[in-house]
Amino acid sequence: MEIKVIVGDIAQIEADAIVVNLFEGVEQPGGATAAVDEALDGAISSRISRGEIKGKFGEINIVHTFGKLTAEIVAIAGLGKRQDFNADKVRGVAGEFCRVLRKLNCHKIATILHGAGMGGIGLESSTEAITEGALLGLYSFTKYKKPEYGDIEEMLIVIREKGKVPILELAIGKGKLVASATNAARDMVNEPANYMTPSQMAEAAKEIASKYSLEFKVFDREDMEAMGMGALLGVAKGSNQPPKLITLSYKGDERSEKVLGFLGKGITFDSGGISIKPSEGMGEMKDDMAGAAAVMTALGAIAQLKPKINVTAIIPATENLPSGTALKPGDVLKALNGKTIEVISTDAEGRLILADALSYAQKLGLSPLIDLATLTGACRVALGTLYSGLFGNDQDLVDKVLRAAGKTGERMWQMPMPEEYKEQNKSEIADVKNTGNRYGGAITAALFLAEFVDNNPWVHIDIAGTAFSTKESGYIIKGATGVGVRTLVELALSEAKSQEAI
Ligand code: BES
Ligand code: MN
Ligand code: ZN
Repeated sequence: MEIKVIVGDIAQIEADAIVVNLFEGVEQPGGATAAVDEALDGAISSRISRGEIKGKFGEINIVHTFGKLTAEIVAIAGLGKRQDFNADKVRGVAGEFCRVLRKLNCHKIATILHGAGMGGIGLESSTEAITEGALLGLYSFTKYKKPEYGDIEEMLIVIREKGKVPILELAIGKGKLVASATNAARDMVNEPANYMTPSQMAEAAKEIASKYSLEFKVFDREDMEAMGMGALLGVAKGSNQPPKLITLSYKGDERSEKVLGFLGKGITFDSGGISIKPSEGMGEMKDDMAGAAAVMTALGAIAQLKPKINVTAIIPATENLPSGTALKPGDVLKALNGKTIEVISTDAEGRLILADALSYAQKLGLSPLIDLATLTGACRVALGTLYSGLFGNDQDLVDKVLRAAGKTGERMWQMPMPEEYKEQNKSEIADVKNTGNRYGGAITAALFLAEFVDNNPWVHIDIAGTAFSTKESGYIIKGATGVGVRTLVELALSEAKSQEAI
């Protein structure tokens, strides 16, 4: 879809549909909505009066113009309560109206800038949010099935101030870039596991690297054996698909030694292994590489935005399958940092592969470290599907990540890491074991990872609840959400900015 900013009067625009808006509880519309209402002889205000249009968040009402305007359709987008409004609501509304208008066979649409000037949202952030929301909300995974609806080919963002066009074009550019990276991650996660194997993940990383001039490396089983990555190799033992350890590096600041590390769990299919999962819903476990997909495409976006900072992504990728050669409960593995791990459940495989990835990241000198992983069902139980669980050993870094997440609308909630729960990971026969007891599973998983982090600032984001959606709402569609991409990109940009300031 092409997105353009133009100067004009929304009521006069030539398009299949124009989009105006309404806050909840507003009886008499103002601004562009009022102008369109007038051109329609009060068709909007009369519907408000009779309670048909309420302005509830995400509600899209359609009015046909029957020749009173050039556009055949006027969509009135509900913005919800004024006091609850923020940039993420703009994204959500854009996703909603785009999907509604696509269903109504609209190919060219025009919208006003929703919310600009409200609740601290400027013209630029509104433009960026509309762009992101539209592109994310219209996403569909069409590789194996024809799309149900035609495309919206063009969206015009109509403004009144001429001087603003250049900066708003930049905002569109940034929104597009970040949304495409998110959609690219969604594509990878939605790919079935028979196609998205560890080797295919390495291919995808290689493509991103060559497209955006990143440094790319891939390590095979033999390399991992030579390095001593016993935990990652242990998980990989059950599968015929060769495991891969993939790295992507972006160098935006040659003068600095500091390199940020992004790590992503890359289990291309998690059957549970010998501790096999129930078959119902097991297919969803193709999304167990959502963390890996997010860090990969985030690096692609960062390479295009060119912040003055260095970032390396590390992706341990393997399947987790049962077989005659598979890892067994009771086995002991020796991780890259020398620690021994007793495997209680082969289904707690994410923390095993991340243990080696974290050690490797520190061998490379990466710091701070951020890992993204669909790690525990317990996190989904604790926080539901809207919030990712965030854990960290350094409150400064935690706050930075929360701030970046806040800007993008990716909701994250800090979880505690109490010392006392470490007890649960103690083993009789090895340094640690890979599962705790029934309670606080997301926390004990994070505490397990902490065993493999030395004195480095580190944040772990558990995206088990947020990586996949069964509902369509706002800019979230059914299937992979691409969660994490936008926060990582925002974090790299803000880190680069704060270093510049020093
Ligand atoms: N990949 C799963 C976690 C998961 C569950 C992600 C649901 C998305 C949705 C992870 O590898 C896993 O199986 N974790 C176990 C840990 C347990 C054995 C300690 C879990 O959560 O049940
Ligand atoms: Mn598992
Ligand atoms: Zn898993």
